[in-house]
Order: sequence, then structure tokens, then C-alpha cells
Amino acid sequence: MSTEYLGAPVYGIDKNTGNQAWLDSRLDAAVSLQDIHFIDDYKTDKFEMISRTAESLSDLGFYGNASEPDAISRDRRAPFDKDNPATKRLIDIVDGVENWLELVPTAAALMPIYNPDVAQLPNGQMMTSDLREWLGNLYDGIGIRGRGAAVTRLAAEESMRHSEPIDMISLACGAAQPIFDALGSVRSNGASVPRVKMVDLSKPILELVDEVAAQSGLGDHVETVRMNILKRDRFDESVLGYGQSGFVEAVGIFEYLKDLGDQNEYDKVMERGSNMADAVTFLRNSYDLVKPGGMLLIGNMLDTHPQLGFTLNVVQWPHIQPRSVDQMIDIVGKSQIPVGSLDIYLPNDGDPGNAVYALYAIRKPDIGV
Ligand SMILES: C[S@@+](CC[C@H](N)C(=O)[O-])C[C@H]1O[C@@H](n2cnc3c(N)ncnc32)[C@H](O)[C@@H]1O
Repeated sequence: MSTEYLGAPVYGIDKNTGNQAWLDSRLDAAVSLQDIHFIDDYKTDKFEMISRTAESLSDLGFYGNASEPDAISRDRRAPFDKDNPATKRLIDIVDGVENWLELVPTAAALMPIYNPDVAQLPNGQMMTSDLREWLGNLYDGIGIRGRGAAVTRLAAEESMRHSEPIDMISLACGAAQPIFDALGSVRSNGASVPRVKMVDLSKPILELVDEVAAQSGLGDHVETVRMNILKRDRFDESVLGYGQSGFVEAVGIFEYLKDLGDQNEYDKVMERGSNMADAVTFLRNSYDLVKPGGMLLIGNMLDTHPQLGFTLNVVQWPHIQPRSVDQMIDIVGKSQIPVGSLDIYLPNDGDPGNAVYALYAIRKPDIGV
């Protein structure tokens, strides 16, 4: 793999070992970069055709402007602009896609991505065969499922390192499919199933989580918490507890946060309001919940996403701030949290250069008690 991909020679991956670790002076900690290969069950023989079509639509850009930096700085809003010619064309060629676009950027848009085999979208509209193929073969779909599989694996591994059930927190949990899969996997391995606090602001989402927990026999292990996790103040200690959780996961929210500063423009993605946490503040607040020796797992869309222009200009997914690994290490450095080690994972279905997301597993130093 070209070292250029991650911006600096030190981040090159050795093709033979697949991994490389180094001491990053910004964190004064060991950092490793690892590929997580997973097989995507929903990729089909339409992959090439859909990739070519997505590329030609992305060339049409947003009203003819295909620039990704322009798209990131443009105020993309939900609902999307149906008159954009590239989006119109997508709607013409993919039967039913408009019904899915209506769900973007809520957690409900992710549900049929995790499982394109569903008969209906969360808004009651039919899943068409065209839409199933597109959600199965677009890199966004492959990326979301890959990141979910990686969250499942890391959460399960972290639980199984301990003989006692660990306490876990999922921040901005959404429907929490990756964490439910982790609990299922821990249970089927006969290991101690963690206790999880699933935290989100959306009442309907938390009702769904309660339903899934009850249906899967995990009701005793799951507690739902309705909370705005983007207040700048620390989280409410009496509800989440500081320094108590062995595994805290906040995947699927970081890419909406600006590096620093107040923000209040998260139409439909997050609660509107002023004085909300930026990436650095949110990272610090989340880290405070982790027990010494425990892990904080965050994620961010990569700026090398192979279909970034399609996502930003054609689907018009709002507010996303894609970031390189280097930018993310900078943010961790700026937060000044003590980092024991940082393991960076690139979930992909065979080519790390086409990874859509990177996951960042921050190990809190163990104080030896
Ligand atoms: C993109 S989804 C991610 C869901 C899940 N973590 C995943 O990766 O599948 C973002 C979630 O953040 C939640 N959310 C948005 N703003 C929030 C806030 N201020 N406080 C708590 N949750 C919030 C939304 O309700 C939504 O479920």
C-alpha cells in the first residue's frame, strides 16, 4: 500500500504483516494501524455496474460542482434538494431510492443498510430490488456494515478478556445492531455477558432498542438512557458513572462534530441548540466514563472514502466531516486525554485502500488497582 494514502511515511502498512506500530509524539503513546477484513454478505455481481453509475452521478456533482471540499463546506440540509440534477437522475434510475433518501441522515436510514434484506423501510415504504442492490453494493453500505462488524468484534473481545461481566456504554447507540451482535456472540461463547447502557436522544430509537433487547432475551443486560450527549458539560455522573465502564463506544457521531468551537446546525442529525460539544470536548467527556485499563472506541469517515463525492453531492448526506487518520490523531492529541495506546482499524472487504471508516480504539492507562 502506498504510504501516501495516510499522509505521512510513518503511517505506511507493511503488506507482509498488515500492521505497523509506532510511538506518536503527539500522544506519547504507541499507535498501530490494522486492517480488519470482513466478507460482505450483501455485495453482489451488480457491484461494478453500481460503482460505475455512482461515479458518473458523482461527476455531475451538486448542480455541476463535483468538488468534495466545496460539498463539505456547503450547508447540506435535510431534507435533500430533489432538484439537483444528479440526485434527480439517481431517483430516475433507482426505483424506491427517494423513500430511503427521506430517512437520511437519521439512524433509520442506517437500518436498511445494516440489513438490505428487510421487506420495508422504517417509514413503512417498500424495499425495492433496485434499492436493495444499491444499499448492498455502495461503498457507504459496505463501510457501515464493515464498521459494525468491527465494533461487534472489538466489543466482544473486550468483554471476553474478563471473567466478570463488564460495564459497557454505547453513546448515540441508534438501533445498536453491532452491540446487540456483540452481546449475542459473547453469550453464545458461554462468556459473561456485559451490562450495557444504550444512550441516545431519540425516544423512538430507544423504544426500538428496548424491544430488540426483550425479543433477544437480553433485557436484563440492557438499560436505555435518554440523554443529550452533546452538552459541553461532562455527562451526568449519577446516570452514566465516571471511570466505571470497561468499554465505551461512540461510533457514528464523531464525523458530525467540528474539531473545536460551538455549533448548532445539526438539522435532523442532532438536537438543535447552541453550546454543543465539539469533537475535542466530546472525546474528553466520553473518555471520562472509561475505567482505567478500559477502552474508548470512536469512529470517523475517512477523507479517502472511495465514493465521497456521491455521498456528499448526490445523496447530500448533511454535516459529515470526513477526516484522515492524521487529523484524528491531532484531535486526540488536542484533547489531552492520557492515552495508553491507540489502535486504529480499517474495516474493509478486501482492500484497505477502499476503507470508508476508521475506528480508533483508545486504551486508558491502567493505574494498577
Ligand atoms: C448515525 S446514528 C449512529 C447510530 C449507531 N451508533 C450506529 O453506528 O449504527 C446517530 C445517532 O445519534 C443520535 N443522536 C444525535 N444527536 C444526539 C445527541 N445530542 N445526544 C444523544 N444522541 C444523539 C441519533 O438519535 C442517532 O441514533
